[in-house]
Amino acid sequence: MKKNILITGGAGFIGSHVVRLFVTKYLSYNIINLDALTYAGNLENLKDIDHCSNYFFEKVNILDAAQLKEVFVKHNITDVIHLAAESHVDRSILSPLDFVYTNVIGTVNLLNTAKEFWKDDFSSHLFYHVSTDEVYGALGNEGFFTETTPYHPNSPYSASKASSDHFVRAYAETYHIQTVISNCSNNYGPFHFPEKLIPLFINNIINKKPLPVYGDGLYTRDWLFVKDHATAIDTVFHNGKINDTYNIGGFNEWKNIDLVKLLCTLMDKKLNRQSGESEQLITYVKDRPGHDRRYAIDATKINQELGWKPSVTFEEGLAQTIDWYLENTEWLNNVTSGTYEKYYDNMYADRG
Ligand code: NAD
Ligand code: TYD
Repeated sequence: MKKNILITGGAGFIGSHVVRLFVTKYLSYNIINLDALTYAGNLENLKDIDHCSNYFFEKVNILDAAQLKEVFVKHNITDVIHLAAESHVDRSILSPLDFVYTNVIGTVNLLNTAKEFWKDDFSSHLFYHVSTDEVYGALGNEGFFTETTPYHPNSPYSASKASSDHFVRAYAETYHIQTVISNCSNNYGPFHFPEKLIPLFINNIINKKPLPVYGDGLYTRDWLFVKDHATAIDTVFHNGKINDTYNIGGFNEWKNIDLVKLLCTLMDKKLNRQSGESEQLITYVKDRPGHDRRYAIDATKINQELGWKPSVTFEEGLAQTIDWYLENTEWLNNVTSGTYEKYYDNMYADRG
């Protein structure tokens, strides 16, 4: 059967890489990108593929059940890869309800639409839910998150993602819709909105603005190149076990301050600045409330069961990312004009 795959959040950071991969790799699939185009959604991210005959865009909010149904009918949707979400922890601390609406209620709306549309035969359809390792909470100095680590979300963002994961599981158990969930570590790469650590710091280094490191800077994150996340999603979509869950990561832990110093060193070279110049921009600021100390993914299962592994080292991925931001100043200027400045002042004003 021909696949008509609905990818939600396809105009966002990770979604745009997933859409591009599927549109260019699977010419026999129709790819329908459904996105509300919030501040984080940007069709510029897809302008290289928007002429492709197997690509379609629908500007729809996943909170709108009637419009979701229309899209399912219009495109005869066979599968869903669900990425649409509010995704920034700091914003979730300021406005938790936005996260409940999109991440929880929006996901349930989408599940209901799929369940109704596919109810005559669930066996040939898949609802793939893209989630995060943040649902597992924080690690101490030792250990990794595995697929059986109990959920222990600490931020409104991770609580909303954990809730949506539970609804996906519940729909599989209760209604027999076929699902799969993956929980990935922190992504980085091209088209990343400059509110998250790496793109925000790249932008600030370019503009010689302070680099606001939260707390003592010794928080640890496990970084994966976004194109490797997209290939992992491709692998899980096609070969993952139904109603199972997969952790995605590249065993690549960095303390924030070490990562920031590496970024400064690499960018000083690229920008022909004096060695050590950008490090002087580092400014320790007030910590994020409820800040998770350490994330680290055990990606053994996806590697051993499905044969997936990352394609680039962190050094390669970071170099590609920096080059991309330096070459795409128009994209960066567009997304940092207008409301971005207001966001930035509001978010960082009282961090000291
Ligand atoms: P993003 O914020 O860059 O993009 C989110 C996209 O969803 C945007 O295009 C936005 O317009 C769209 N969207 C938001 N609310 C919507 C709504 N109500 N209806 C329709 N569209 C809506 O996010 P991202 O970083 O690309 O993350 C994508 C997914 O991957 C999310 O589910 C996130 O939880 C998950 N994830 C992200 C990371 C990461 O490091 N960024 C890691 C693991 C998992
Ligand atoms: P972020 O990119 O927001 O991802 P997440 O919180 O989902 O892991 O942040 C990554 C790490 O960087 C996290 O420990 C918080 C820290 N951080 C800063 O120190 N300063 C900043 O300005 C930002 C945005 C993040």
